[in-house]
Amino acid sequence: MKTKQALVIDLFAGPGGLGEGFSSVQDENGNPFFKIGISVEKEASAHKTLTTRAFYRKIKGLTGGLVGYNEYLQGTLTQQQLFDLYPEQAKEATMETLYSPRALGDDNEIIHERITELVKLHGNGPKVVIGGPPCQAYSLAGRSRNAGIKGYKAEDDHRNFLYKEYLKVLSIAQPDVFVMENVRGILSAKIDGTVMFPSILEDLQDPGQATKIESAKYRVHSLVVSADDPNNPVYHDSKDFLIKAEEYGVPQARHRVILLGVREDIKNVPSTLHRSDEQVSVRQAIDDLPKLRSGFSKRTDDPKDWEKTVSKNSKQIKALLKNQFNEVSCLDLKPFKNLPRSADQPIEPLKKVPKKLAEWYRNNAPICVLNHETRGHMESDLLRYAYSAAYTELSGGISPKSRDFPEELAPKHENWKSGSHADRFRTQAANKSATTVTSHISKDGHYFIHYDPKQCRSLTVREAARLQTFPDNYLFEGNRTQQYVQVGNAVPPYLAQQIGMVVMGLIK
Ligand SMILES: C[S@@+](CC[C@H](N)C(=O)[O-])C[C@H]1O[C@@H](n2cnc3c(N)ncnc32)[C@H](O)[C@@H]1O
Repeated sequence: MKTKQALVIDLFAGPGGLGEGFSSVQDENGNPFFKIGISVEKEASAHKTLTTRAFYRKIKGLTGGLVGYNEYLQGTLTQQQLFDLYPEQAKEATMETLYSPRALGDDNEIIHERITELVKLHGNGPKVVIGGPPCQAYSLAGRSRNAGIKGYKAEDDHRNFLYKEYLKVLSIAQPDVFVMENVRGILSAKIDGTVMFPSILEDLQDPGQATKIESAKYRVHSLVVSADDPNNPVYHDSKDFLIKAEEYGVPQARHRVILLGVREDIKNVPSTLHRSDEQVSVRQAIDDLPKLRSGFSKRTDDPKDWEKTVSKNSKQIKALLKNQFNEVSCLDLKPFKNLPRSADQPIEPLKKVPKKLAEWYRNNAPICVLNHETRGHMESDLLRYAYSAAYTELSGGISPKSRDFPEELAPKHENWKSGSHADRFRTQAANKSATTVTSHISKDGHYFIHYDPKQCRSLTVREAARLQTFPDNYLFEGNRTQQYVQVGNAVPPYLAQQIGMVVMGLIK
């Protein structure tokens, strides 16, 4: 007998990392256990990404479906032409993302109405709410930035209260389970000097109390620490809710709070996530992607000029590093010839990553490489990038701090030596997990320098997407800056799949 699929309500969906993970969970017969009913997202490019992916999920199993999708990825079909080939699936996909970007708070009438309708249609089948309210106001970075705003008061920042929108949806849908993701800063965020996390937990345990809508109550569990009494989970350390993605097969140190709410009448107890045996390094995750050169910004970009500059820089870098390291002869800085700035040619299969992750990346992989195009950098930064990458290689994976940079390479920046910019040029070491991929990567890429000193560049959107464990056929829509923001905002889908499996174990 086919089990009834669980309905997923995806809020603040971003590009759909959580949704992708949940959609990929299969029951024992190989059928998808979860079905996304609605994804709510207010930003236009992320919304388009969600719609494209929703459509892909609906046509991937149809005869010829992947052919059409691949033509779209290669640019030989427009989205409209693709949708016209499968009108029914296109209609369902656009309905899933509510026809347009929508904001919780502003567009509640449409959003709540659709959720109510879906819940009604689903009857007594299992339901799950996923997604976390935006984190800017909670986030540590956000707080230090906000601290500089004259008259800023956290209690007046409406983003602090977007989680109340989340509570409203919990009250309306009363799902079996919810999964709420947020930044680490939510654990220590304060309003009027009071730490907010305990009251956020209380609200999540009893959403009806906060929303004044009659609602079921919830137990809130950690996904990594078992509670002494699972029927009355109490965690004495709020860090028990912190998940370190690098411990679960993600090639990135991403530490996020993830709360698992289980409706009180459900007596099953959730299992915790299984830690992976090995951590995946940046090199393992991206080394097969085509090599690219960076470009020049603020001057004419010319490939021969670029090679000349890199060649000149390499001599200077070797001379500088000789003063810092005993042995530099192993360093190969000879410039590549004729590197492109973007690549859509086929890539070699991943050989270095654990098999399961390789299969995850390459499932229905396209014959082209998506979103793999470099940015232009200032000529002076090209030298710093190459230096930072070469230093990292020689030091066995330690990226140089500002104090390690020779005087000749110091940028003209007042705070350069003060320590506040110590990590200004950070190479993602080949032999380690990446540092957290954040939406900051959309700004300048200085914190996300490729470990190959001969490519002199920051990571491409596709490389960042690999570090976030998006499959290779996941297309990020919008312009390049928007694509970086989407990738940086996402929950790693490979981790989300593991969370989805815990949830399936709980409600199946
Ligand atoms: C951290 S991202 C979510 C990542 C996502 N859960 C995932 O799994 O990949 C938060 C998203 O919420 C969106 N957002 C912010 N305010 C919103 C609102 N009021 N309604 C809907 N979406 C909103 C932002 O545009 C952003 O894409």
